[in-house]
Amino acid sequence: MIIPVLASICVLILTIWFYIKNTMSYWSRRGVIQIENKHFWSREFFGTTIRDKYQYGKSLNQKYIGTYIFSSPVFFPIHPPLIKNVIQHDFSHFRGHGNYNEPKDILSMHLFNVEGEIWKNLRVKLTPTFTSGKIKMMFETLLEKTHGLEKVVGDYADRKAACDIKDVLGRFTTDVIGSCAFGIECNSLEEPDNDFRCYGKKVFERAPSRLFYVIFIPHWILMASDFKFHGKEVTDFFTNLVKSTIKYRQDNNIVRKDFLQLLIQNDSVTVDEIIAQCFVFFLAGFETSSTAMTFALFELASNQHIQKKLRGEIEEVLKKFNGNLTYDAVIEMKYLDMVVNDNVNAQDINNYVQKISILTFYYLVQLDSSKNQNGTKYHSKYHTPEIGRYELLVVFNLEAVDM
Ligand code: HEM
Repeated sequence: MIIPVLASICVLILTIWFYIKNTMSYWSRRGVIQIENKHFWSREFFGTTIRDKYQYGKSLNQKYIGTYIFSSPVFFPIHPPLIKNVIQHDFSHFRGHGNYNEPKDILSMHLFNVEGEIWKNLRVKLTPTFTSGKIKMMFETLLEKTHGLEKVVGDYADRKAACDIKDVLGRFTTDVIGSCAFGIECNSLEEPDNDFRCYGKKVFERAPSRLFYVIFIPHWILMASDFKFHGKEVTDFFTNLVKSTIKYRQDNNIVRKDFLQLLIQNDSVTVDEIIAQCFVFFLAGFETSSTAMTFALFELASNQHIQKKLRGEIEEVLKKFNGNLTYDAVIEMKYLDMVVNDNVNAQDINNYVQKISILTFYYLVQLDSSKNQNGTKYHSKYHTPEIGRYELLVVFNLEAVDM
């Protein structure tokens, strides 16, 4: 009895060992340098792991390397022209970021999460919302919020007190997005503990268990148990907020100059889609912008000559616009643009992007080699038909991209 049991255990262990070996040699079997992952119990920040892999691949003079996220093969471009192809020339072939999205979990169905045809259709519907004319219209709404910022920072300056600028700017961007995307006055600058700010902070609280569920538990089981990635409380708060604001505007014929209004007027967008897109504005806009501004202020404080030059430009342009800060005035501030862009690039505000390819690995290798082929079809020895649609993730480090 004992021998068959032992034999079965050995067969099981060997099968698992071969499976892992086979999966984790996907790239090396194709002649691509591969960088393996740290142990799964490593607590290192994912962005740091990505940066290290990028720098290692670069030190080996590789145009791309292969790596893995769990058992999925990941193509990791390093050579800037290759990355440029992914984000510019072939943008439409990389439809999605490989994130969790489920129609029953309304907040998950936003532009940054959805994939394939759903992403493409949503993008087509939303593109008219982002014309420069419409952004210009929203500028007024944004400008109103700067008065509160001026007051809070001014109070600190008058008292000669130290100011936690990250917190103040987080409250400022919360107020801007609350107003532009949700059409509400949340006054976080004056009332730091209001509901919008509290629920907003909860969105960014780490919930490792929910991440674990979406990776390891089949989604049909999660949906059957009414799972919400951001938790039920946060989901209900943002859903009800948008629904009640839409109803209030429709019942009272109120029209505001904000993103929500543009979405309401766009007949092709459903209410659930509006809720998810307002939410992504908050998700993608609040922390990124406040972090970028915090770093920019730190750099300006550390480099007084740049600060002086920037102040000079701002004063000069404002004089031309009779002291009024308008959209056109900001567009004329070229040095400001350079300072902001340089800062976003240098500070790793968002240090990598992960994308899902609808192409095959064959295509990606072809991309790299096509420049010598004069347009003739390139038959690569790496052609691997078994890697098909949506199975290949592409990750790249933004350090390599000249944005
Ligand atoms: C410093 C500020 C910001 C940084 C560094 C940043 C960075 C990024 C990056 C790297 C992507 C991925 C692009 C791609 O897949 O090719 C992205 C996408 C996106 N961002 Fe931002 N972002 C910032 C601010 C904002 C703001 C203020 C909003 C909205 C209010 C926003 C909304 C979005 C949306 C909706 C997407 C998804 C676009 C799509 O997949 O079609 N971001 N952002």
